[in-house]
Amino acid sequence: MEINYDTGKIVVAGGRRLTGTVRISGAKNAALVLICAATMATEPVILENVPDISDIHVLVQILKEIGIEVTWPAEGTLAISATGAPQLPPPYQLVKKLRASNLLLGPLLARFGQAQVSLPGGCNIGVRPMDLHFKGLAALGAEIRMEKGTVLASAGRLRGARIYLDFPSVGATENIMMAACLAEGQTILENVAKEPEIVDLANFLNCLGARVRGAGTDVIKIEGTAQLKGCLRYNVIPDRIEAGTYMIAAAATRGSVQLSGVIPRHLEPLCAKLREAGVSVTEGEDSVLVQGDGNYQPIDIKTLPYPGFPTDLQSQMMAFLSTVPGISLITENIFENRYRVADELARMGARIKVEGRLAVIEGVPALQGTQVRASDLRAGAALVIAGLMAQGRTEIYNPGYIFRGYHDIIGKLSSLGAEIAFQAE
Ligand code: UD1
Repeated sequence: MEINYDTGKIVVAGGRRLTGTVRISGAKNAALVLICAATMATEPVILENVPDISDIHVLVQILKEIGIEVTWPAEGTLAISATGAPQLPPPYQLVKKLRASNLLLGPLLARFGQAQVSLPGGCNIGVRPMDLHFKGLAALGAEIRMEKGTVLASAGRLRGARIYLDFPSVGATENIMMAACLAEGQTILENVAKEPEIVDLANFLNCLGARVRGAGTDVIKIEGTAQLKGCLRYNVIPDRIEAGTYMIAAAATRGSVQLSGVIPRHLEPLCAKLREAGVSVTEGEDSVLVQGDGNYQPIDIKTLPYPGFPTDLQSQMMAFLSTVPGISLITENIFENRYRVADELARMGARIKVEGRLAVIEGVPALQGTQVRASDLRAGAALVIAGLMAQGRTEIYNPGYIFRGYHDIIGKLSSLGAEIAFQAE
């Protein structure tokens, strides 16, 4: 029988130090966009190091529903073959579960001349408009209409253009970048996102025969091409947010954890902040060792686009800082609604005051285990960390959010010495 992770709970017995080595999976946010990009290729694509998480399974299901062939030839390996035109629209029941399905807009539009996406979907972390996506695709020649909550985009052959993003949105950069690969002529994208996932997407697109330069800087230049070919082996980058979550969990439990299979450079914004708080972080070539003795100082954090501190690690840091003596400050600059976890942490004894984008955290000696509810993926991860730190037993409801983005989180934490289990209801 298939387990329904949307019900049930994660149960954590707090107070265990995490020790040992944990292997980090492929990046959720890179794999999602690479799978969408693969629909532009006229020949088969094989992606490796794809994480086994529910967000990926939902996207695979969406592709299958619209007639794209997708199989798992081996664990972590996904084969995608988009030879014919898709049957639109993708089913709303699936699309509403996954905001990243919006990343199909650019690829399907560029390759097949039309695309549809439904708004919104995904986590409850604030208003998530798509105006920048639409503005960019319109500049490439697409006609964008809204009908009953569905966005309909259509175009003949797209034309390259010069596009300036008002904000370096990750999703908008990705959607426009993918579409521009099949446009006629050159596209210059300014003020783009510089996240490692953008660089991974550019490398993958180039593997398909696209001509993308400048990813990782503020300006990306794309020479359009009529067709993209296949790519029989492309390895997704490691998940810097999963890695960061284990690093924070190690610090929070005063543990000693080695992460393997990571790109330490991608973790730099977090390493710097953990060190500032008094955590020892040692970077190897593709590993990072995190050791904490509990002798910590409060810190200030501002979330910003990469290479700033990632919003996707903000909640986990809030959980950690809730027992660091003194006053820590967090400013959330990306998603205004990302402080819902503060109320849950308060139920465990944390002292957190939220005013708009600012959170003031006054460290308490310890958290106490109780029943809490995850409001989104990263809030869920934060509650797991809080549970690991707390005295007694914590029960985390809505665990489905956590399994959307963390491959085998129960197994990985258990192997580090945590007492944690999933209980179906
Ligand atoms: C991606 C990540 C998500 C991460 C976020 C920021 C994926 C699948 N998700 O989300 O995990 O938290 O980057 O690092 O990769 N905005 C606009 N107009 C737009 C688009 C965005 O105003 O058209 C605003 C959003 O409201 C938000 C900010 O830009 O305030 C950042 O959003 P964006 O970078 O687009 O995040 P996502 O791509 O949705």
